[in-house]
Amino acid sequence: MAIEKSSIMPDRHERETLTTVDPKLTIQITDDGSRTLRTNEGGYTFHSCSGALTETRHVYFHNSGVEERISARLDTSVLEIGLGTSMAMLMTVDAAIANGTPLRYVAIEQAWLPAQIMNQLQCDSWVSDPDLVHRYMSWRERLEVKHGRELPFGPAIYGWDAGAQQRIQIHLADASDWNSDSEPFDAIYFDPFAPQDNPGLWSGPMLKKMHSMVRPGGTLVTYCVKREIRDRLSEVGFDVQKAPGPVGGKREVLVGRKP
Ligand SMILES: C[S@@+](CC[C@H](N)C(=O)[O-])C[C@H]1O[C@@H](n2cnc3c(N)ncnc32)[C@H](O)[C@@H]1O
Repeated sequence: MAIEKSSIMPDRHERETLTTVDPKLTIQITDDGSRTLRTNEGGYTFHSCSGALTETRHVYFHNSGVEERISARLDTSVLEIGLGTSMAMLMTVDAAIANGTPLRYVAIEQAWLPAQIMNQLQCDSWVSDPDLVHRYMSWRERLEVKHGRELPFGPAIYGWDAGAQQRIQIHLADASDWNSDSEPFDAIYFDPFAPQDNPGLWSGPMLKKMHSMVRPGGTLVTYCVKREIRDRLSEVGFDVQKAPGPVGGKREVLVGRKP
């Protein structure tokens, strides 16, 4: 993601970074104060440096229609491609619990992020109920102990009941090979690294698979507005629209709707 974003919006000022216990990852402080990760090799950031939290709220939670569904207490199902730091997941679950909305959230991720690094991200500042994050981190730590911290420990499915009606499934898998055996989703948060860095996840067959996993009227949202990606999404059957980007971030982002 970073390459595309940074080529569109060059850094105007030096942003603070912090080291992590993993020599392959650095913490990046973004412009809204929230923290994200940067890979040392390749320099891919997990979120926009203009504001990770602002981007996640706008591009995924809001533009997908999930925010509106959760506020209206409509049963909601979300598929996320690229769980990463869990920011989008925690934001969505937090809102679902606060509104008493049933939620099914399935996240696909190929690399398990150790709790020790997640703790450095100050995830509890992303949500209204910090206890949600404490419970999530305890769950992840227990899994890591169980699996001997030998990462990654997949492919596998890990389920976490975040609340009485909020069910999370993390599929530790390569999203290119992954298939859903459940009901189609209301929304897909499509958040791999940029097409030039993660081409397989932006291929026609992958996007066609995504289309088959959304219910009619549902959405696929992403930060990437490249012409070839818009064309590919149209070819597989989405109605594709550019939407204004988050405050301080990209000018435009993308919403695909399944007719
Ligand atoms: C831009 S980050 C996602 C950020 C995330 N949505 C968040 O809220 O933190 C992209 C993520 O996709 C994951 N990823 C890359 N290739 C993948 C693949 N083939 N299958 C599953 N996950 C993949 C990376 O490990 C990384 O965590």
